[in-house]
Amino acid sequence: MSETATITVGGKTVELPVITGTENEKAIDIAKLRALTGCITFDDGYGNTGSCLSNITFIDGETGILRYRGIDIAEVAEKSDFIETAMLVINGKFPTSAERRAFSSLIVENELLHENMRVQFQGFPPTAHPMAVLTAMINAMSCFHPHLMEIHDDAQFHEAAAKLLSKVRTIAAFSYKHSIGEPLIYPTASRGYTENFLHMMFKAPNNDYVPDPDVVRALDLLFILHADHEQNCSTSTVRMVGSSQANLFTSVSAGVSALWGKLHGGANQAVLEMLEGIHKRGDSIESVIAKCKDKNSDFRLMGFGHRVYKNFDPRAKIIKAACDKVLSKLGKEDPLLDIAKQLEAAALNDSYFVDRKLYPNVDFYSGIIMRAIGIPTNMFTVLFAIGRMPGWIANWKETRDNANARIYRPRQIYMGAAKRSYEEAKREVIQ
Ligand code: CMC
Repeated sequence: MSETATITVGGKTVELPVITGTENEKAIDIAKLRALTGCITFDDGYGNTGSCLSNITFIDGETGILRYRGIDIAEVAEKSDFIETAMLVINGKFPTSAERRAFSSLIVENELLHENMRVQFQGFPPTAHPMAVLTAMINAMSCFHPHLMEIHDDAQFHEAAAKLLSKVRTIAAFSYKHSIGEPLIYPTASRGYTENFLHMMFKAPNNDYVPDPDVVRALDLLFILHADHEQNCSTSTVRMVGSSQANLFTSVSAGVSALWGKLHGGANQAVLEMLEGIHKRGDSIESVIAKCKDKNSDFRLMGFGHRVYKNFDPRAKIIKAACDKVLSKLGKEDPLLDIAKQLEAAALNDSYFVDRKLYPNVDFYSGIIMRAIGIPTNMFTVLFAIGRMPGWIANWKETRDNANARIYRPRQIYMGAAKRSYEEAKREVIQ
């Protein structure tokens, strides 16, 4: 017999089904709760709410497991490149060689921006944050590709997904070039996905920039590690917007906006700024840890803690190892890496962090790799967005393909003023 949960509320007892996931995680299905009891649930911050059934990514935060389509992240990171990972995440299976070749050709075909789109960069001030430019330009893709607005057409989805994956690099690199006043460098068909991006970022008319293969691999690895992370804030946003049957471009653009905040993707920029500040002021590690614990301060150790991981974030482990490798390959020593390692060691030995199960997350070391490669700090979250593109696309598609799909529309518990007259409310203002 299938498992049920019994709830008694207002003197009424109801039985609700329990859903069991592939990895034995349990959820009480409350779809009929309001109809049966008149009650809704309250879960501020959604810490106990499963918003969907998903086949894409599995996380066990207690033991630090992350799998894309059932495969451990460490294995994907070691054996695949970003485009193969993207195809795995979006399609649910690895591509055949022919599928891979065809998709790579589609990525190349779509790497240029419409000339009018290129001209739009001139409208943004050079000081604009590249995340603001990215969200605007991805949304603008809806204007430039009106033939891809039929959301239930699979061929259109395939083309829109390739366009997004390909053009996000071009938009990102153009926004950087615009911000530093250099001419835009067009993509080149002969270069691989990540090499092409680095070339657009760092080639200038007066240099012969050739990306180092180890740097290309390090950045590709960062993209792979960011490819999906189940129902985080930005992915939930993409699903929320997509549930209204909004098109893929505009739904993903909303995801980019959600990613920008410093509690989410913006944390990689915030970590680097925190480390730079500590270095510049010469703060001691003890004083930084003390500030994190001070209830009168809103300072947090950026790059630490996670809503789901109550153990090591498996991505952070891989990134830390890659960080050491890249810095030694480039012959760079970075005092910020030493500070980060000391902070990590101090936090992991401090009862405040131990009791709250706060560990380094994906953002703690990623910025140090990006800095070593020469990526400016305000581009860090943009690179996160490039990496997260497959996850947003896959989650939008899963929402679209759900046969029982309904618009996402949570309820609320109203705590405002009780019914009162218009005159009463006016009198309050006059007094
Ligand atoms: N430094 C100091 N204290 C912390 C930190 C931190 N980084 N993170 C959580 N805490 C404390 C928090 O003050 C609270 O303490 P208390 O119980 O005494 O009030 C407790 O730990 C639980 O924190 P919470 O805010 O309820 O946890 P949450 O699940 O709502 O937030 C988080 C998760 C990631 C937003 C939070 O850990 C945080 O702000 N971390 C720093 C920002 C960061 O690195 N974000 C990137 C997350 S991973 C990548 C991504 O999602 O994009």
